[in-house]
Amino acid sequence: MRQPLVMGNWKMNGLRADGLALAQSIIDGLNAGDQGIAVCVPFVYISEVGKLIESTPLALGSQNVADQEKGAFTGEISASMLKDCGVTYALVGHSERRTCYADTDQTVAARFCQAQKEGVIPVLCIGETLEEREGDKTFAVIDEQLNAVIEMAGVEALANSVIAYEPVWAIGTGKTASDEQAQEVHKYIREKIAEKDAAIAEQLQILYGGSVKPNNAKALFSMPDIDGGLIGGASLDAESFLSIYRSI
Ligand code: 13P
Repeated sequence: MRQPLVMGNWKMNGLRADGLALAQSIIDGLNAGDQGIAVCVPFVYISEVGKLIESTPLALGSQNVADQEKGAFTGEISASMLKDCGVTYALVGHSERRTCYADTDQTVAARFCQAQKEGVIPVLCIGETLEEREGDKTFAVIDEQLNAVIEMAGVEALANSVIAYEPVWAIGTGKTASDEQAQEVHKYIREKIAEKDAAIAEQLQILYGGSVKPNNAKALFSMPDIDGGLIGGASLDAESFLSIYRSI
């Protein structure tokens, strides 16, 4: 039985007071027994939000992590620094990092490895662009993005990770993949991994991301291979985020 997980990705939104207020409203809406909920906070506020949510059911995540361990890498944040600030999850390979900041399958795989080495759970984001989907390349893109990590980290590394399928065309566009479209890719990802290790594939959490809102979350989350969501815009409002979490 896979544990559901709902993660908010705040991206580059809000200032210190906004982040603290948002985190406070989320924890106010949670019960002691809740689990499987996290927020990915901008680096500069990670420590402070981390202190606020420490000992609550809300887990802390980052939006990226360096592909190197330490040293002369100006502007980068290492996995050990994140661990030191109480981070549980680190997004790696978000499409905005791939398209706007030249992250490649190789740097994403290196980030994945760095996170895991420090005991931070990498959340590997994969997904195709509209052009790739229309060119029937969705599965080829998924294969490439997934294989780069498996080649560098080994399939066993997926046991302590999360995958987020985020079709690029559905991110921030209000255009959600249909439940069936999302399920088809989630099932494909699980089957691909099962070819290498069935036990790991069976327990792996695969989240869907891309315009998940309170009104479409329940149907998406009821698909057999969708184990939760990675939520952008709707995670900036505590009520919407909690409503999505409650639809699991
Ligand atoms: P939206 O929910 O705003 O489409 O963003 C999805 C996303 O990129 C989460 O990482």
